Amino acid sequence: MSQSVLLLPGDGIGPEIVAEADKVLRKVNDTFDLNLDFDTALVGGAAIDATGGPLPKETLDKARKADAILLGAVGGPKWDHLEMALRPEKGLLGLRSGLELFANLRPAILYPQLASASSLKPEVVSGLDILIVRELTGGIYFGQPRGERVLENGERQGFNTYVYSESEIRRIGRVAFEAARQRNGKLCSVDKANVLEVTVLWREVMNELARDYPEVELSHMYVDNAAMQLVRAPKQFDVIVTGNMFGDILSDEAAMLTGSIGMLPSAALNSEKQGMYEPCHGSAPDIAGQGIANPLATILSVAMMLRYSLKAEEAACAIEAAVSSVLDQGLRTADIMSADGRRVSTREMGEAVLAAL
Ligand code: IPM
Ligand code: MG
Repeated sequence: MSQSVLLLPGDGIGPEIVAEADKVLRKVNDTFDLNLDFDTALVGGAAIDATGGPLPKETLDKARKADAILLGAVGGPKWDHLEMALRPEKGLLGLRSGLELFANLRPAILYPQLASASSLKPEVVSGLDILIVRELTGGIYFGQPRGERVLENGERQGFNTYVYSESEIRRIGRVAFEAARQRNGKLCSVDKANVLEVTVLWREVMNELARDYPEVELSHMYVDNAAMQLVRAPKQFDVIVTGNMFGDILSDEAAMLTGSIGMLPSAALNSEKQGMYEPCHGSAPDIAGQGIANPLATILSVAMMLRYSLKAEEAACAIEAAVSSVLDQGLRTADIMSADGRRVSTREMGEAVLAAL
């Protein structure tokens, strides 16, 4: 039976990096006889320009039917003046919530070849292998009420609501405990339980879950401390579980530990393991169209897609090995360039991965 993959290139560098990842996916599709069908749709600013909205119904329908989705990136200055509900980012958030992709896995792994690309000392980051499990469909990103209002004194006020229900915390907690069990058995839950009630509940539910996972060692950390510990001694972490906004921030921080945010893939999964895969970086409008973006985060997202949604572990490993091999060859896009590296374009990097496959 065939499985279907929906490509959503989006904006900025999105189309350039998805083009390279697409070639890689088609190649393993042939080599490993995966029987994949491909389709493409519009999202974000590209969709706004073509249809007036960031998430056309056709895109959401196609996404619902797909076994897996590969998304490039959304957003850019061209659309920044639009009101919140019409911004490109709403396309991404609408896909996450529409498909209930609540579990966001963001691995931060340092490739040994890139130890010198990190802004931290090699001994602090070498061997780094962290998994951030970010809740993706709740918290302050989606809480109601939200908006902007005018107070009686005429002053404007902006407001958002930070809420989590028990079931939302429990289901992301389970994903994190399961992941920790399959790794080194260490889970750190990040909250702000010294100030925010919603995260007091978060902590309680994590403690309740811990009883079902005696083999996992659970610890708790306030988010400000976690941000500091990530740059002080990042290797103390194995799996981190946290809410939507803290996860957004900490995953960018963790990305830089690995040398470049251009190296970090991610998976957003629902309870049926249907998934949307995307690089952790954004649309990088400042370098779009120049052919210098790093396609490796998107290519590694394809590997995650093969592993989690398409059940093609062998193909996933082949892609990861190919990425490692191009780094061994010294090929570097601008973001990971080092003195002894050979600078390549987005396309050359993609071609090199294809060749290594
Ligand atoms: C991410 C991005 C998104 C987020 C933006 C583009 C809405 O920063 O995936 O981390 O905040 O979740
Ligand atoms: Mg982010």
